[in-house]
Amino acid sequence: MPASSTDTPARLLGISGSLRRASNCTAVLRALPALLDGRASLDVMTLHDVPPYNADLEGEALPEGVRRLRQAITEADALVICSPEYNYSIPGVLKNAIDWASRPSFASPLKGKPALIVTASPGLFGGVRAQAQIRDLLAATLARPVARQHVAIPAVDKKIVDGRIADEPTALLLGAALDDLLAELALVNAGRP
Ligand code: FNR
Repeated sequence: MPASSTDTPARLLGISGSLRRASNCTAVLRALPALLDGRASLDVMTLHDVPPYNADLEGEALPEGVRRLRQAITEADALVICSPEYNYSIPGVLKNAIDWASRPSFASPLKGKPALIVTASPGLFGGVRAQAQIRDLLAATLARPVARQHVAIPAVDKKIVDGRIADEPTALLLGAALDDLLAELALVNAGRP
């Protein structure tokens, strides 16, 4: 059962679209609990252990990394996806993970799950070109991507310093976006479409 807004803190799952050890996107996710004021917990998951999607494996024992990904999504009340754009698009590892998590179609752990989309880049545009693509991908799974202005963080390498958000406008943007995610979760918990 999802946590309600009035009892236990919500459980958020952060999914990083980058496998890089020094990933800015993973660093953004790890910095988010400071903005949550105890309203929610946030676990961060990377996608190192998720193999390429193969429908043959769905009929057999699921790969352990896939099983853990799907379980983490199931147990989370809501998701925060933070990803770079690669060549103006979604990194393959993120697309692949969503494909695995999207099965069976329209009845998967992603169905109905509120999801905040964050993109980040050291460049000028904050990975914004991947935003609509991630949103469309989530729509195909019947997840509930939060409807709001883009949360795209340019020059991200200057904004997360020593694991903390070192830029006030970025902290305000991310804080407002998390508020919107928790508001979406409250709608879900209230049974609202
Ligand atoms: C990139 N990068 C990039 N950046 C961007 O703003 N727009 C783009 O289209 C691309 N394309 C791209 C393709 C490939 C294959 C790589 C490896 C990189 C740069 C990318 O944003 C940068 O490496 C980020 O730092 C990656 O995110 P993490 O690993 O720091 O989270």
